[in-house]
Amino acid sequence: MKTVLLIFGTRPEAIKMAPVVLRLKEAGIFRVKVAVTAQHRQMLDQVLEIFELRPDYDLNIMAPNQDLFDITSRVLLGLKPILKQEKPDLVLVHGDTTTTFAAALAAFYSQTPVGHVEAGLRTRDKHRPYPEELNRHLTGVIADYHFAPTPWARDNLLAEAIPPERIWITGNTVIDALFLVARRVQQEASHWIEYFARKHQVTFDGRSLLLVTGHRRENFGDGFQHICLALRDLAEQNDNLHIVYPVHLNPNVQRPVRQILGACLDTPSTSSANTHRSCISLLPPLDYAPFVYLLSRCHFVLTDSGGIQEEAPALGKPVLVMRDVTERPEGLWAGTVRLVGAQRQQITAAANELLTDPTCYQKMAQAANPYGNGQAAEKIVDILKTI
Ligand code: UD1
Ligand code: UDP
Repeated sequence: MKTVLLIFGTRPEAIKMAPVVLRLKEAGIFRVKVAVTAQHRQMLDQVLEIFELRPDYDLNIMAPNQDLFDITSRVLLGLKPILKQEKPDLVLVHGDTTTTFAAALAAFYSQTPVGHVEAGLRTRDKHRPYPEELNRHLTGVIADYHFAPTPWARDNLLAEAIPPERIWITGNTVIDALFLVARRVQQEASHWIEYFARKHQVTFDGRSLLLVTGHRRENFGDGFQHICLALRDLAEQNDNLHIVYPVHLNPNVQRPVRQILGACLDTPSTSSANTHRSCISLLPPLDYAPFVYLLSRCHFVLTDSGGIQEEAPALGKPVLVMRDVTERPEGLWAGTVRLVGAQRQQITAAANELLTDPTCYQKMAQAANPYGNGQAAEKIVDILKTI
């Protein structure tokens, strides 16, 4: 029996690798081992719980305000004894985090073949996003098997002289995860309405719900100042708006968000006397199921996230991306995603247009899913049976 070792460490990797772990185990012909680096601790554990994943190894590397040196060196050294002990036939990594790159490098050092899930995304600008563009590029150089989510991603790899017989178009496993959870969430709507009211004082009272997330390193500093000021502007300029923002745990995000938005705005309870008044709710990072519920209920999304650019179009939700470039152009081509940068005026103008111009909104609010049919993990497992 071949041993497949899956290595991941952050929230998005876990969401996107969970369907692969589950399918590999279902296949019954692999020895499946999971090592988490826990580059994220709480946000990773949230995902492990919902998909009922029990890692075989947990490096538990996260430290407050860790830097790229910390993550890379801890992952590399932490994986050494595991690779020695398990002697896997294949290591699977996902995407573009520093866990991804360091795990691929560790596998290469131990002369283990590497499969890269979500291969071939590119902006061609090594500083944007930082450090993800270089992480995925370097992982692509190391990898032996490339699972590209779309034809565009495959073409990027071909342009880098990766042999075509080593590349497969599989769809993105995020759609597998989304479909799995969205089905469940839709059947439990009353539970989630009650959950948000009780746990987060968020009610679905007819105000337009604007869902916000953000965490990109290149937006730290000025970018987050601008993003927060834009959210404040939007709440002040519009009636009937409810901005719901689950705030990433990175201290570089928490600090400006709490400073700028924490004190100055109405909460839902203080604004309830005037139901037309806009308000902002700052929430902790949400478990995947309630987050998918919010995604399905929101009017549109403001984000700099990668994964949300893939999920929201599948649910027919317009996405304003607070970045200048994206490695996921398929949403732009489909017309559901727009790049608005991280400048206060541009963010406010684009969001106001969506709030006030129904034609513009309708044009973006078409369900478009360029990322697969929810069977990406199954495809990957079928391929692994043949190599
Ligand atoms: C990381 C990835 C990024 C990915 C993002 C998804 C790198 C360099 N960055 O960015 O590619 O898009 O995750 O969210 O690989 N923290 C906690 N608890 C958690 C998670 C984070 O407290 O569960 C705090 C810690 O102080 C930690 C800090 O956030 O040191 C930064 O975490 P880190 O993984 O280095 O960077 P992210 O911004 O989360
Ligand atoms: N997500 C979540 N809870 C939240 C915010 C996001 O479960 O409070 C999910 C989201 O649905 C997506 C993933 O986390 O699947 C995206 O993670 P993030 O934006 O942190 O990373 P990126 O995709 O940019 O690497």
